[in-house]
Amino acid sequence: MNKEKIILVGMPGSGKSTLGKAVAEVLQLSFFDLDQVIEEEAGRSIPEIFEELGEEEFRMLERRALSKMLNTPHGYVLATGGGAPCFFDNMEEINAAGLSIFLDPPLEQILIRLSHSQNRPMFAGLDSEARLAKLRMIYGQRQPFYRRAHFRLNNIAVVSDILAL
Ligand code: S3P
Repeated sequence: MNKEKIILVGMPGSGKSTLGKAVAEVLQLSFFDLDQVIEEEAGRSIPEIFEELGEEEFRMLERRALSKMLNTPHGYVLATGGGAPCFFDNMEEINAAGLSIFLDPPLEQILIRLSHSQNRPMFAGLDSEARLAKLRMIYGQRQPFYRRAHFRLNNIAVVSDILAL
């Protein structure tokens, strides 16, 4: 395992990018957002990929981008997309490549973060009740994958405080 590769997993809106950037700064590592890597390679935004190519093709692109990132020799902090650990053998590969951390704040906190975001096709067009129901369903399906991470953090506020010390 490469201790200089830190890979954050968890639900959309769980704070992977926010925390990832802060951790990368403290540790003086580069920060990458897997969705951005996919967008650059595909030459389209995530919503465009979903709309024009469909989710199945998105998962293939995600798989390819993840493999590429996990196989680079240098260290970094990587925020993965919420679904990335849950398809193919991605979680196993993530754990073999670096230190994985599952960000697991309460779903209510996630819901608030999602309500400020326009860029998530999985939750587009849903009111807050439908969003919470979908979040609960997806969380139930994905938790077994996320739980395979080396660490689980369930209080993002505490982590931010630790980083501020
Ligand atoms: C997805 C989460 C998104 C993005 C895509 C699919 C998912 O990333 O990869 O919209 O399946 O949960 P974030 O977790 O950064 O929102």
